[in-house]
Amino acid sequence: MFKVRNGFLFLVLAIGVMGRNTSSDLDEDCELNAVDTMHDFCCDLHEEGPQFTECQREWHDKIQYSTDEEEQSYMFCTAECTFNSTEILGKNRQSLRLRQVKNHLESYLVNDADVDLLYATYVKCDKHAISLMPHTGVKKLAKRLSSYGCHPYPGLVFECVANEMILNCPAKKFQQTAACKETRNYLKQCMQYLKYKA
Ligand SMILES: *[C@@H]1O[C@H](CO)[C@@H](O)[C@H](O)[C@H]1NC(C)=O
Ligand SMILES: *[C@@H]1O[C@H](CO)[C@@H](O)[C@H](O)[C@H]1NC(C)=O
Repeated sequence: MFKVRNGFLFLVLAIGVMGRNTSSDLDEDCELNAVDTMHDFCCDLHEEGPQFTECQREWHDKIQYSTDEEEQSYMFCTAECTFNSTEILGKNRQSLRLRQVKNHLESYLVNDADVDLLYATYVKCDKHAISLMPHTGVKKLAKRLSSYGCHPYPGLVFECVANEMILNCPAKKFQQTAACKETRNYLKQCMQYLKYKA
């Protein structure tokens, strides 16, 4: 099961990495926090969990994507579905229930330092996601997602947590696969690009 899922993730990643290196691609992807790394789990601390797998299956049935936009909708709805089933999403779907986040992390992580690292990441990503909401690209996305009954906030948080955990994973917990290393390099490039632009 694990191998199959990895194969799937690798495929998604491979598609994502192709053709994302002109500067306008960097611009768009980096601004939106590299939307297509959302489903890359490269740090052992940030695991997929059964809810994610279940939601992937559910939304794969609901959105049989053939375009990048549909694939993005699939990813955002999968993220929201996962947050729904772990009960960490506030009622308005634009906030996190931080107490629940902590409980959830404590339910699968043994080490206090790991819980603290991920918790701080969620706090940071909540703010980040809220700051992205007014952007034109996100508003367009919100419109598309609404036809599936989904909201952009959960996916923006999900994406941010994935990115942060790829960039800040403790060295021993980072999966040294070609795909993960490539994603990390890409994200580093993004960070540099955004810093340079600012
Ligand atoms: C795109 O990236 C590849 C590998 O990172 C590099 O070899 C190639 O020169 C890049 N192309 C452009 C147009 O930047
Ligand atoms: C998540 O839960 C909210 C509130 O119950 C619901 O409106 C929404 O459709 C759910 N989202 C997904 C993707 O299942």
